[in-house]
Amino acid sequence: MPPGRERTPVTDEHPLPTKLNTNIAHPARLYDYWLGGKDNFAADRELGEKILAAQPGSLESVRANREFLKRAVRHAAAAGIRQFIDIGSGLPTVENTHEIAQRCLAEPRVVYVDIDPIVILHGRALLADAGSTVVVQGDVRRPERIFKHPDVRQLIDFDQPVAVLLLGVLHYVAEEQDPQGIMSRIRDAIAPGSHVILSHLTGDDDPRTMEGSINIVKRTPVSAVSLPRTYDQVERLFEKLDILDPGIVPVHQWRPDRPVSMDRRFWLWAGVARKP
Ligand SMILES: C[S@@+](CC[C@H](N)C(=O)[O-])C[C@H]1O[C@@H](n2cnc3c(N)ncnc32)[C@H](O)[C@@H]1O
Repeated sequence: MPPGRERTPVTDEHPLPTKLNTNIAHPARLYDYWLGGKDNFAADRELGEKILAAQPGSLESVRANREFLKRAVRHAAAAGIRQFIDIGSGLPTVENTHEIAQRCLAEPRVVYVDIDPIVILHGRALLADAGSTVVVQGDVRRPERIFKHPDVRQLIDFDQPVAVLLLGVLHYVAEEQDPQGIMSRIRDAIAPGSHVILSHLTGDDDPRTMEGSINIVKRTPVSAVSLPRTYDQVERLFEKLDILDPGIVPVHQWRPDRPVSMDRRFWLWAGVARKP
């Protein structure tokens, strides 16, 4: 472990969860199951199977989301961005943000942030030799605390543009927790030219199926229930940012590398915006 990393507490003074409760399903571990990982438990696998059965095309959506991550990170790197803060990063999988960025840039700086202690443990183990990359535990609902974290401040120059990744995480933030306010606080903290890369669960393509799926989640012991949002609600999250072409689109349609079917089912909106 490189010097300094062991000084980082898994938790800071804020009351974030630190216990590994494996009896209830957690988003990071559920995603890990869907992506073929090994860091999941029976509760995650059980819920994962129920959702796959109730919501056709959901596995394709999860995979399309990871492909979107790659394209969006490549885009940000091509736009001159060298630092990345991936909030709600999930368990390490193949092609993580730092690996994609390192293929495009000489020395990208990458911060991974997640609320789940398993993500922090596995992330730190994976990234022990990954260069300018750190993993911190944090809560997207408290962006100031993430940005003030000593490890983040050591790595990220907030006077320079940064890409903030919010993939599949804001749908764990309820309306009363003010997702728009969170976005405006993130926007205010980053330099002009910064990018916000976002994907968000939606039922716009098939509201009844999505409602059925959310009802399954609500009947299950879970650490967080996801909340789909409409196109208009997602668009409001980008307030005062310039949304780049092609706009907010089904996740597989954001600047695809190859032709994609326009009538494919989708469960995630995706978009990339630039702070003017
Ligand atoms: C659905 S996964 C998405 C993972 C990855 N970003 C992706 O798109 O593949 C959601 C992640 O957000 C994390 N998460 C949920 N609520 C969070 C919060 N309030 N703050 C930070 N991370 C959170 C979960 O632990 C999980 O790792």
